[in-house]
Amino acid sequence: MLKGKEIILGVTGSIACYKAVEVVSRLRKLGANVNVVMTDSAKQFVAPLTFQTISCNPVHTGVFDIKEYNIEHVSLAKKAELIVIAPATANVISKMASGIADDLLTATVLAARSKILVVPAMNEGMFRNPILQENIRKLRRHGFLFAGPSKGGLACGEEGEGRMIEPSEIVDEVVKLIGARQDLKGKKVIVTAGPTREFIDPVRFISNPSSGKMGFALAEEARDRGAEVVLISGPVGIKAPQGVRYIPVTSAEQMRNAVNNAFNVCNAVIMSAAVSDWESSGCAADKIKAREGPLELKLNRTPDIIAGLGRKKGKRVLVGFALETNGLIKNAKIKLKEKNLDLVVANRASNGYPFGSDTNRVVIIERSGKTTELPELPKSEIARKIIDKIVNIFTTKVRN
Ligand SMILES: Cc1cc2nc3c(=O)[nH]c(=O)nc-3n(C[C@H](O)[C@H](O)[C@H](O)COP(=O)(O)O)c2cc1C
Repeated sequence: MLKGKEIILGVTGSIACYKAVEVVSRLRKLGANVNVVMTDSAKQFVAPLTFQTISCNPVHTGVFDIKEYNIEHVSLAKKAELIVIAPATANVISKMASGIADDLLTATVLAARSKILVVPAMNEGMFRNPILQENIRKLRRHGFLFAGPSKGGLACGEEGEGRMIEPSEIVDEVVKLIGARQDLKGKKVIVTAGPTREFIDPVRFISNPSSGKMGFALAEEARDRGAEVVLISGPVGIKAPQGVRYIPVTSAEQMRNAVNNAFNVCNAVIMSAAVSDWESSGCAADKIKAREGPLELKLNRTPDIIAGLGRKKGKRVLVGFALETNGLIKNAKIKLKEKNLDLVVANRASNGYPFGSDTNRVVIIERSGKTTELPELPKSEIARKIIDKIVNIFTTKVRN
């Protein structure tokens, strides 16, 4: 499941270090190559020799242990697909949040472009400390992923939140992140993205600031999980992902036609496009001349693409997005019901956010009424959570 995957395991100074040995062993059994980086404090808890023996690799500890011409933190950071820090102390979390790089592990993290999974382990007081919580939120905003901690007996003898999750759970997270999970194999998924433009004359249009980033992230995630993806996007300034069928469109009507053409053979539609709700009642043939006084425009409703799909969706999974400035959950639930959706992703617009941003804060609402409120996360992470839900719906539909 992890064959050929390069993973760095960062081990820091917590009593939970001994559990990291089992993490290495499990990752290796699944085929991963694991390089362990230990902090000086971690070496007080478990000898590097233990990790060296279990990982079948030398253990990396010092930022100045330069082998040949390799600068170790850079070379390690380059080859890793994932960095897991387990256990992660309060100290290392706060150092990472401040961009400190005073040992091999933090220097590697700072140089890394890979995903980073942080698995905290500490006393409850430390975990609940508002400064640490602020640092965790900051790291999350920068794309760091967190797993745990859980509640239970702590090494200090207290009960509470701060216990590192179990090695098997850590490995499950790793598999979810980089394992060859192909849970959309055989499925055809349509994703719409970006804004639409409704021209009022040859040089002016009605639109919105949608960047397409959310839809493109969804298309990439669905592709990575084995789906055949049709990405239908309005005008955006980002490059179409490889390995998807890309259909660029301009207006709501073109988007509707493109979606309808692909609809019959698809299994799911994710309508993340910010389709313009109105179009000019007639696009002027020539540029409307600037003149004194107001210009009156008559606007007609554009085709309600998602409502049309909802009426004929059959067994397909239909996902909509609700962007609201007020009454977020209430309005999103109304949309879910009225448009016959399986899932609605609600997000709040305020001061231009989340347009163009690499992150967003969303609430996912399911047909059952179950709501999942996510913290501010990179759009790639939100895409992963949405696709997880879609896979769940597919599984439930098969069972029923
Ligand atoms: C016995 C013992 C257990 C500790 N356990 C933890 C722990 O679980 N979590 C934590 O954040 N710090 C723990 N600490 C404190 C850290 O080891 C200390 O903050 C250290 O500076 C962390 O260094 P590092 O983050 O570079 O590994 C423990 C210290 C001792 C002596």
